[in-house]
Order: sequence, then C-alpha cells, then structure tokens
Amino acid sequence: MTQPPFEYSGASELAVTNFEQTVLAYAGFRRDIGACLKATFAADPDMLMAHVLKGLFFQFMAIPAILPRARDALLAAEQAAVQRGATARERQHMAGLDAWTRGLLVDAARIYESILAQHPRDLLALKLANFFHFYCGNSRELRDGVARVLPHWQRQDPGYGFVLSLYAFGLEENAEYAQAERNGRAAIEINPADAWGVHAVAHVCEMQDRHREGIDWLAQLEPHWNDLNNFRYHLWWHRALQHLNAGEHEAVLAMYDEHLWDAKSDDYLDLTNDISMLQRLEFAGVEVGARWQAIADKVLPLSAARYFAFVDAHYVLALAAAGRDDQADALLSAIRAAAAATPAQTISAVTAAVNGALCEGLLSFRRGHYARATEAIGPVREQIHLLGGSHAQRDLFDEILVECALRAGQHGLARQLLDDRRATRPGNRWNTDRLSRLAATY
Ligand SMILES: [Fe+2]
Repeated sequence: MTQPPFEYSGASELAVTNFEQTVLAYAGFRRDIGACLKATFAADPDMLMAHVLKGLFFQFMAIPAILPRARDALLAAEQAAVQRGATARERQHMAGLDAWTRGLLVDAARIYESILAQHPRDLLALKLANFFHFYCGNSRELRDGVARVLPHWQRQDPGYGFVLSLYAFGLEENAEYAQAERNGRAAIEINPADAWGVHAVAHVCEMQDRHREGIDWLAQLEPHWNDLNNFRYHLWWHRALQHLNAGEHEAVLAMYDEHLWDAKSDDYLDLTNDISMLQRLEFAGVEVGARWQAIADKVLPLSAARYFAFVDAHYVLALAAAGRDDQADALLSAIRAAAAATPAQTISAVTAAVNGALCEGLLSFRRGHYARATEAIGPVREQIHLLGGSHAQRDLFDEILVECALRAGQHGLARQLLDDRRATRPGNRWNTDRLSRLAATY
C-alpha cells in the first residue's frame, strides 16, 4: 500500500503492519476490521493513526449514542501527536476526522483530496475522499478522484484491485458503463471477494437493465461474501432489485426476509436498503405486512443523528410508511431545526436546498396527498443528487415523483418524467409499466 512507506510517528513495525491490514480490511468491507484494529492497538496503544481510524469507525456506525466517541478518539490522536509528534499527513488525517465530526462533509472531501495530492497511494485517504464525494452527490469526483491517483499504482501493490473497483463505480456513476464494467471485472479477477468491484458491475447491469446477467453475476460471486461485513446486504439489495425489475416479486419478498432484513442491525445502509426495497415492493403491488413497523422501531432512536441527508429522507419515508404520523412530523421538524441551528454543516445546506422539500413530499405521498407531494418534490427534483447515494438508490425518489404525478392526474408531468427515464433506461420494466398505465388513461 505504501510507496515509499508512510511515516507513522513513533509506531512499531508490527503496529504499522497491523494498521495497514486494517485499512485493507476496511477497503475490502471485511468483517474482521475490528479484530485488525484491535491487533494494531495491541501492538501500540498510542499509535496516532490507529486512534484516527477508530474515530472514523465510530463515525461510520452513525449511532447517536456512539458518535461522541469519535471525538474521544480524535482527542487521543491529538494527545499522541503531542507526545510523539505528527507528520503533515497524520495531521491532515486528524483534520479530516475533525471535519467529519463537525458535519463538514465538503471540507472532509477537500482534506482527503489534499492528502492524495501529496500521497496518491494513501488508500485510506482515497477511500474516504470517495466516500465523501459519494455522500455530497459529487459524481464527477467519484470518477476523477480515482483517475488522478491510478497512474501512481501498480498491479502488484496490495490494494490495487480496490483502486480499480473504486474507479469502476466512479465510471458507472458517470454513465461510462463499458469502461466501468471492464475495471470492475478486472478488480474481481484480482480478488473475487472485492465487494466494491462486485457492486460496480451490479450497478452497470442495473442501469442497463441487464437483469439476468446481473443476477448471474451476483449469484456466481456470492460464495465469496462470507467474510464480508454488512455491506453484503447491499449486494443482496442489488440482486433483489434485479429480480424485482425482472418481475419476480415473490422471490424478492423472500429475499428481503432472508438476506436483507437483519433484526440485529442498526446500520444505516442496511436500513436504507430495507426501506427502499419495501417501497419498491409496494409499487409492484406486493403486500409487505408488518415489515414497515419493524423498520420504524429501529429508525426512531437512530434518527436523532443528523448524519447524511440521504439517510434522513429514508427515515422520514419509513416512519410515514409505518403510519407513525406524529413521529414522522417530529423528525422532519427536527431535521429543519437542526438545519437552521447549524447552517455551516453540509447536511443543513442540503436540507435547506432540497431535502426539506423532498421529505415534505414524501410525507404527503405516504398520506395520499399526491398533488401536494408533486408540488413539493417536483421543483427540487434536479437537486436530489445533493443528498448523495447512487443513481440506483436515488431512483426511488424519481419513482415516487412519477407515482405521485400519475395518481394526482398530472399526466403531462408524468409523461415528461417517464420520457426522461425512458431516454436513459429504455428497457426498464418499471417505466414501461407506467407508460402503459398512462397510455390507458390519457
Ligand atoms: Fe449500490
């Protein structure tokens, strides 16, 4: 991973080796991330970068009660810097964590990019820059941020495959599907358990509506997912999505129960997978029963964290879908109040520009006020990418807007939205079904 080896202030050789293994485990979405970090601390309890990584991992959890521990970890890193000194790179990593804990996501992305300008082979900085580009809705940097560093990597470097898979997904999000697929497949040739590589090709198949190929791709690689962390649920979400678009609704519901829903998980990505899939199943006419209630029970305590606008929107939708009107209203009020109280935070700007209106529309949609929902979501539609997430994930909001327009009898708008989608996804079954519905009524 390192060339030349990065300097880690005062850390032993074993601690550095274990730390770099932890970074590889993180890049590979492996479930032994915690064990690797523990081994790093066992080798050196005062390693600055280990404390930084620990703080990042607390942040990734997005659990309100745990988030303050990220600041504790940052404090420990700062103390290590006082005792041992710190390199410029280590100080920038501390600044990146600091920015994230303060909700400054755009600043965090900029800090990690500045590390990469000096150290293009810093895999941790690359992953984090990519992560923040993703949740700031910066598709272009998802691709270009990786393209910039790629010439500095060589095939034999540990972590090289992860760089290819990052590049593959960045290309996919910019609709460069052929090149995305080539890079994703190359990453899988290096490591068939590379979750991001599997994922990138699954996205290509999704966007090109190559459902059978997508299902085969995911099914063929699934035996390699045993050592993956919760991200494997997102891979199952992709597979379920492909079955759904192939019209295999009952199979999707079974897959939801067996492979997506995890009663023990409080992971925000797992919950957004679940919420998104239940809503899509309902659009397909499937009765989902008490599943919304189980999700709402989980969402309620987690929704106190103002983490990503993308997550907020899903949580509002889930509470409203469960019929918990008071809780859904209270959450939207809390989201807006936080935006007003902390205007410097990235999420606040996104709430003010788009997510407040989107959430308002989602509430109206679930309450059957379709014209009102259309009025709320329609004007911000072009800005929804600012919430972060992928095209495939955000497609849910497009689908909701189309449904609202159709149900509100706004046929002109519905036609326009469906034609937009048809232009980019001509073989999409969801779209074709709505176009037929529209033709039958209009
Ligand atoms: Fe995805």
